[in-house]
Amino acid sequence: DSQSASEIVLFGALGDLSRRKLLPALYQLDLAGLLHPQSRIVGVARTDMDIKEFNDFVETNLNEFVSEGLESEVLDRFLSRLVYQQLDFSDSAAFKNLAQTLKQGHKTRIYYFSTPPAIYGAICDGLNQAKLITGNDRVVMEKPIGDSLESSKVINDQVSRFFKENQIYRIDHYLGKETVLNLLVLRFANSLFTSNWDRNSIDHVQITVAESVGIEGRWGFYDEAGQMRDMVQNHLLQILSLMAMEPPADLSADSIRDEKLKVLKALRPINHLNIKEKTVRGQYTDGYLNGVPVPGYLAEEGANEKSSTETFVAIKAEIDNWRWSGVPFYLRTGKRMPAKHSEIVVHFKEQPHNIFKDSYSDLPANKLTIRLQPDEGVELQMMNKIPGIASQLKIHENKLDLSFSQTYSDERVIDAYERLMLEIINGNQSLFVRRDEVEQAWAWADGIIEAWESTQEKPKPYAAGSWGPVSSISLIARDDRQWVE
Ligand code: BG6
Repeated sequence: DSQSASEIVLFGALGDLSRRKLLPALYQLDLAGLLHPQSRIVGVARTDMDIKEFNDFVETNLNEFVSEGLESEVLDRFLSRLVYQQLDFSDSAAFKNLAQTLKQGHKTRIYYFSTPPAIYGAICDGLNQAKLITGNDRVVMEKPIGDSLESSKVINDQVSRFFKENQIYRIDHYLGKETVLNLLVLRFANSLFTSNWDRNSIDHVQITVAESVGIEGRWGFYDEAGQMRDMVQNHLLQILSLMAMEPPADLSADSIRDEKLKVLKALRPINHLNIKEKTVRGQYTDGYLNGVPVPGYLAEEGANEKSSTETFVAIKAEIDNWRWSGVPFYLRTGKRMPAKHSEIVVHFKEQPHNIFKDSYSDLPANKLTIRLQPDEGVELQMMNKIPGIASQLKIHENKLDLSFSQTYSDERVIDAYERLMLEIINGNQSLFVRRDEVEQAWAWADGIIEAWESTQEKPKPYAAGSWGPVSSISLIARDDRQWVE
């Protein structure tokens, strides 16, 4: 199947995601020889343009977003795959024009929905009316899939009327990141971590996804969502599931997704009773990033000064199952933090007894740090004897550090979308989110969002360029622990 040609139909081909990620990812696949010679890319959007204009648009954006520069031979081949179709998505009768464009030869069709989710239903209706849906076709859905459990069901229902679950690829681009994929290898290809990965050995886990960017010209959209819906419901919960899941029977899509789902089901609900002790929400005020002054959230372009949307979230998540009982997973994520910095830190338990008291009064516990981005890598903090002759043993904390850029210096860091696009073309759903996962994640997130609404508290301010509100420090300090900086 992976050998056959496909027709990749990009709805929203002129949009931001397409420009920055999808077209460059497809170009990289072409460069790597992973696109079938006969595969075509059909750009679909509302704007009227001819193929020449579309080619120019694609070339300009590839030039901007393919950082290594383009190879002219590959570029020519890539451009020759392009087709453009103007279409008003809400006019289902107009889809017959798309049918005309797609009529030559049957290939596996991949309908990539990179439009606001509110029109996924309309696109499906149009495709159906034009008889453009067969059991072989695939559909790719970008987030946000709803803003609550209920609204996610509406969107999923609209698409499920025409496509079966095994045809639907729900994107969470974090699942395409190299280091996130590496979690599976780290956990299940290393006996050291297979046997120590539970409440007996682990004290707690921290997951930080910090971004230095602000709202980047999409205030209106972001303000409706906030960091909980934009990042926690999807990316952070996916990372948490991969960290906490039981070993899947194999690497098949459903084996992996079954196990992730069980973790989500075991998340202890957070509601109005425990919201204050388990969560912190924050909103950035003006501050400095690398010495440059930046405005606060409420002073960003297009902002409504009264907004109480959160741009930072910290949560103490607990997983009520045999493996993780008593092991908190502290999550935090925010905009306008000091750096783009995402990592998972596994804090192992302390030694039961310290025989090195004379040289080191308080032995630190081992820590495993999985650096997701940038500077991808894995490091293990451990105690070592400092070499040398001295009457008293000298020991200190040091680390085994596997930096991907140093170790695999010949390999280009591939973008998540390249991996995901390849998996879609190959028909492998392992890295895509199943409907029940999305719903379970929403159910948990909804509890938190509703509890926040019921308290009517404003988010706590934090200065742009800081690590979040002071109360996020207390959240973890109450448990006699601290965030790793
Ligand atoms: C997106 C969010 O899903 O992920 C953005 O909508 C966020 O708000 C982005 O900036 C972060 O992705 P990455 O790959 O830069 O960590």
